[in-house]
Amino acid sequence: MFKQNCQLLHTALVIALVLGGCNRRMAVQPGTYGEQHRPQWHYSPPQKWMNDPNGMFYYEGNYHLFYQHYPEASVWGPMHWGHAVSKDLVHWENLPIAIYPDSLGYIFSGSAVVDWQNSSGLGSLENPPIVAVYTIHDMVAQKAGRLDCESQGIAFSLDKGKTWTKYGKNPVLPNPGNIPDFRDPKVSWDPRGSNWIMTLAAGDVISFWSSKNLINWEHLSDFGKGLGAHGGVWECPDLFRMKVEGANEYKWVLVVNLNPGGPNGGSGTQYFVGEFNGRQFIPDASFLSSISKESGVWLDYGRDNYAGVTWSDIPESDGRRILIGWMSNWDYSNVVPTETWRNGATLPRSLTLHNTKQGYRVFSNPVKELQSIRKKETSWSFLDLKSGQFVAPKLPFSPLQSEWDLELELPEGSIGKYWIELFNDLGERYRIGYDAVGKQLLSDRTKSGPNQFSDRFARSIHAAPLPLSGSKLRLHLLFDVASVEVFAEEGSTVMTELFFPTRPFTSVKLVAEGGDLLSAKGKTWHLERVWAK
Ligand code: FRU
Repeated sequence: MFKQNCQLLHTALVIALVLGGCNRRMAVQPGTYGEQHRPQWHYSPPQKWMNDPNGMFYYEGNYHLFYQHYPEASVWGPMHWGHAVSKDLVHWENLPIAIYPDSLGYIFSGSAVVDWQNSSGLGSLENPPIVAVYTIHDMVAQKAGRLDCESQGIAFSLDKGKTWTKYGKNPVLPNPGNIPDFRDPKVSWDPRGSNWIMTLAAGDVISFWSSKNLINWEHLSDFGKGLGAHGGVWECPDLFRMKVEGANEYKWVLVVNLNPGGPNGGSGTQYFVGEFNGRQFIPDASFLSSISKESGVWLDYGRDNYAGVTWSDIPESDGRRILIGWMSNWDYSNVVPTETWRNGATLPRSLTLHNTKQGYRVFSNPVKELQSIRKKETSWSFLDLKSGQFVAPKLPFSPLQSEWDLELELPEGSIGKYWIELFNDLGERYRIGYDAVGKQLLSDRTKSGPNQFSDRFARSIHAAPLPLSGSKLRLHLLFDVASVEVFAEEGSTVMTELFFPTRPFTSVKLVAEGGDLLSAKGKTWHLERVWAK
């Protein structure tokens, strides 16, 4: 996205930064969270611009979330790390900005870890430092056409993540000199070598580095030339070990965000499954052959889940691998129709690894904590929906703050398309569908509102491969004012999509098109708002 951003950057913003805007400390501005299109149970910043989630770690009962933030405008600009914290991944408290840009540059994406053994020497064993590792982007160098404008720096916190001090000798990992896209360090502890591993995006490969103390880094290897999707630059990687569900087997998952080149255009998140031997990532041969036809496999096939990475330091007693993404796409994130704030996060998702008929695949599902805001459970069912007909479940609440667990039963050999459609009285609609012939999950926002803010927002219906194991299609849907997250077939195929209707969608219908449906049944809940009024 970077070239795009630079063009967007207004000279005034640069001047503001140079004149010392970077040193200003700001208190948290309370957001109202009541604006049109504002998510009601997702994280979004109280004010102004947000892109990637950064530096997530868990410590003493708190899930910390940082994010790429420009606090002075609702467009991308000089990057800070905004900060929020949650005890349950559902209710968030906004905290003051954690890390400000400085004379070295903007604070781009990165990660944070609890340095339990005080390997960095920045804290003590009694009070382990929390160390953030981020990219320093030197705007001046970039404008001068230098190729070494990105390097990695660290900052640390000695008060459980509340306040942060930059390390005095940044950068800790300088640019090798000729890699302009050299960013987004994700650090994790590897007990085998008793060292930290940094997974870094370098052009269109992933570069691995190791360190004993988070300060001195040694290059290990690079991965990815000619493998997977390469429609754009690789960004925001993540590397972690996962147990294969139902087997006594472990694999490593390498998450690689890239922009553009996503499955339905613009930004997207692919992944690889294989081994990491402490120096090198070796993709599983069967995994590579399973993705060769599609040249990539995606954590999310929707257009609005980008830059997702996972929480560090989740206790082993919990054992989950929890990812959160940015709910937008560089194709239009600067111009979506919101004003006081712009963009937010996806819901946190728990990842699991499965050995499926298609090969190893990562499934995503909403974290279980979200069930705490389910209200007004409503059960419904319909039988025998003929082609061309529709039925409408009656809901005692707005569909735009709702969760659905639904099952459609298709007749054998169906050639139909089946839609769940949300609409308003202006004729605007958003629909999710299943195409039984193409075996695809569909998301159609082409008529969801006045979409002219960007000609890249709703050019076509978006699709994801969704082979069914039997005649039943299981969908789990979560709507939050201007977004939907679709988890199909236990989270094996996921789509996250935004839409911006003029007025809220007030009604829902199920539609059978070109084929009958034997039955449709499900449960729907109202999801309570998590923001204080
Ligand atoms: C991804 C990204 C990162 C970069 C950050 C800048 O969306 O381009 O690669 O660090 O955004 O805000």
